[in-house]
Amino acid sequence: MEITYYGHSCFSVKIGQKTILFDPFITPNEKASGINISDVKADYILISHGHYDHIADAVLLAQQNDATVVSNYEIVDWLSKQGATKGHPMNIGGHWFFDADDNGTKFKVKCVVAVHSSVMPDGTYGGNPMGFLIESADGNFYYAGDTALTYDMKLIGDYKSIDFAFLPIGNNFTMGIDNALIASEFIKCQNIIGMHYDTFGYITIDKVEATAKFQMAGIDLHLLNIGETKTI
Ligand code: NI
Ligand code: MN
Repeated sequence: MEITYYGHSCFSVKIGQKTILFDPFITPNEKASGINISDVKADYILISHGHYDHIADAVLLAQQNDATVVSNYEIVDWLSKQGATKGHPMNIGGHWFFDADDNGTKFKVKCVVAVHSSVMPDGTYGGNPMGFLIESADGNFYYAGDTALTYDMKLIGDYKSIDFAFLPIGNNFTMGIDNALIASEFIKCQNIIGMHYDTFGYITIDKVEATAKFQMAGIDLHLLNIGETKTI
């Protein structure tokens, strides 16, 4: 599957003919100044929780692309009041099938536990934070959102085969490298794409050390350059 990195925790993944975008935080992110927001494509925008560093460009990109926003009920409701016209509300434990192309091919989104917090930028209640497990004919992957290491991740590894996973590795606000390594073992995944690191001072990491720790465990840690597209 084709993955593009837009900085912080924002990635797009192509499934069939459709593009899913996760947690858009591009225009306020100095590290992503090389990205032209009008070039960012999305058919679906999945939001893990209400914090500004995950939602900043959600309305703009939903309008620009006529995209459907997918998140918990509270966040979809808030985004609709800000001008995102198409939304699909969900909550943890539920799944839904979305169109991967216009010929009836579907992909499945399941909302899973994330241990974090969630509030909208204006102080509105943001529901519970979550991660997403995506299943499609092209492969399965897990987008963890902002989260601590949690034993619930074992459920994902025990019941699904995961081709790749987006895990936060920046520490301080989420799990760091050592716990992300344990998470990779819980979900039984050999291809980890790091996120939520190096954007702010609190979450600066040693990339060489991080990559080496994963390598020693036989797991590939992919640290994409902002703007890079990679196929896994
Ligand atoms: Ni957060
Ligand atoms: Mn965050």
